[in-house]
Amino acid sequence: MAFELPQLPYAYDALEPYIDARTMEIHHSKHHNAYITNVNAAIAGTDMEGKTIENILINLDMKNMPVRNNGGGFYNHSLFWTVMTPDGGGLPTGDLLAAIEAAFGTFEEFKASFSKAGATQFGSGWAWLCVHKGGKVEVCGTPNQDNPLMPGVGCGGTPILGMDVWEHAYYLHYQNRRPDYIEAFFNVINWTEVARRFALEK
Ligand SMILES: [Fe+2]
Repeated sequence: MAFELPQLPYAYDALEPYIDARTMEIHHSKHHNAYITNVNAAIAGTDMEGKTIENILINLDMKNMPVRNNGGGFYNHSLFWTVMTPDGGGLPTGDLLAAIEAAFGTFEEFKASFSKAGATQFGSGWAWLCVHKGGKVEVCGTPNQDNPLMPGVGCGGTPILGMDVWEHAYYLHYQNRRPDYIEAFFNVINWTEVARRFALEK
């Protein structure tokens, strides 16, 4: 049961003008696909084969770079596609908004914290909103394809929102203007999906 490339839940051009179709197509069909091919090869014949990607990452030997990089890349992008939607943006509601306000004071403070985590990530990496057991939410950033499920990485919570700040996520349209991409990302956040993940993991 090898891992497979998940279908995008929308068309490549659905997130225009915030994320362009060409970027989405290359990101999904080339980058994500390559992580999946490579993680499948890295776990073949090991005791990780047949386990869920979450289980593999939670129990990961961080010195195992092929699984760390490609298993992380598989998980991170699989989450990333689902937390974006053409009908996105705005503010979360209900329990999730309450948890964000409890942690950050206001949604705007959360937005500033999350944006800073993405903007200040040196080189390639991710910004995350995570939830801890009990419902406390926290923002962190991680390098490369690491994520907070991995031992000792980031804030140690469960990711419920992730933003890819690798150049491959924005360079065709935004070139070096990562902050503009981050600002645009807020227009496509699928808060319904983030809230679903929050309710599941809190
Ligand atoms: Fe990416």
